[in-house]
Amino acid sequence: MATIITIDGPSGAGKGTVSRGLANKLGFHYLDSGALYRLLGLAAQRHRVGLDSDNALSMLAAHMDIGFKTLDDGSLKILLEGEDVSQELRTENTGALASQVAAHPEVRTALFDRQRQFAKAPGLIADGRDMGTVVFPEAPLKIYLTASIEERAQRRYKELLDKGENVSLRALEEQVRSRDERDMNRDVSPLLPAEDAIELDTSELSIQEVMDTVLNLVYLKGLVKVIDQ
Ligand code: C5P
Repeated sequence: MATIITIDGPSGAGKGTVSRGLANKLGFHYLDSGALYRLLGLAAQRHRVGLDSDNALSMLAAHMDIGFKTLDDGSLKILLEGEDVSQELRTENTGALASQVAAHPEVRTALFDRQRQFAKAPGLIADGRDMGTVVFPEAPLKIYLTASIEERAQRRYKELLDKGENVSLRALEEQVRSRDERDMNRDVSPLLPAEDAIELDTSELSIQEVMDTVLNLVYLKGLVKVIDQ
């Protein structure tokens, strides 16, 4: 039996870092569901499938050849048709493609089973937008992470500067705002906290503080035995 913990929220709220850290700490599997939508966006672009062709997109979603490999240093390598696309997957352009393909109900249905297959013992940290509301509604612990648009854009800005990319903070704020708008206002699986989710605003918190808070909830709920810090 797999213990499932869902971590949902908008981009830049810290879900990825916190989820990977928790999975590592608890020895759980990790589902980066955003990566599936990003892979589909990239696959569609490569195979010249229109972003509004629901049938072709859902076929691609069900059958695309993808792979996730954890390297010895703990980092995750993501493959599309055997090619390492980990870097290309993280760009703003791929994020925008992902949020467009993600708005199709047929695509979400096609990816549903693929996401459920990640639930394996001893447990899974599922990171995304609708993990607690749609994909794993039975999860005993659901977290919803948020942060202000300014803070999320600032985090992304720092990340890109560190990578040596020259970007404008203003433009990033605009991108964050328009992706939020698309994710929150779509008809299917819009971004919103599950009724039983615990909301955490991470604007003023460090990654370690967020991880500690979630770990305490995991222990309080008795989901795993307390692990020495
Ligand atoms: O989390 P990440 O930024 O990688 O997600 C990229 C896009 O994929 C999101 O903006 C959203 O549109 C879509 N997505 C989704 N449902 C999920 C995860 C991601 O719709 N569970």
